[in-house]
Amino acid sequence: MCCLPWPEWHCQIPTYPNLAGQNEQYLVAAIKAYKNKQRTGGQAAIMQGQAAALSDTDIANLAAYFASLPADGGK
Ligand code: HEM
Repeated sequence: MCCLPWPEWHCQIPTYPNLAGQNEQYLVAAIKAYKNKQRTGGQAAIMQGQAAALSDTDIANLAAYFASLPADGGK
C-alpha cells in the first residue's frame, strides 16, 4: 500500500504508488484532489476515503515527510 510502513516507505505492491521522495507540492495537490473528489478513476476511491479525514495541516505535514524520504528506499 502506498503509505503503509513498508521498509523505508518503498511500496512492494506494483500497482500502488511510492510516496518516498515524491515532490512535496505534488503530494499536497494529489492528496487534496482525492479529498475534494477531483481525482477519480483507477483506485482513487481508496484514497478518497483516506484523505477525507485529513486537515490541511495533516496534508502539509504528510507531504513534507514523504518528500523528505529517500526515493530509492535508502539503498
Ligand atoms: C495518510 C495516509 C496516506 C497518504 C498520505 C497517501 C497518499 C497517497 C498519494 C499522494 C497518492 C498518489 C500518488 C501518486 O500520484 O503518485 C496515493 C495513491 C494511492 N494510495 Fe494512498 N495514501 C495514504 C493511505 C493509503 C492507504 C491506507 C491505502 C490502502 C489501503 C492507500 C492506497 C493507495 C492507492 C491504491 C493509490 C492509487 C490511487 C489511484 O489509482 O489514483 N493509500 N496515496
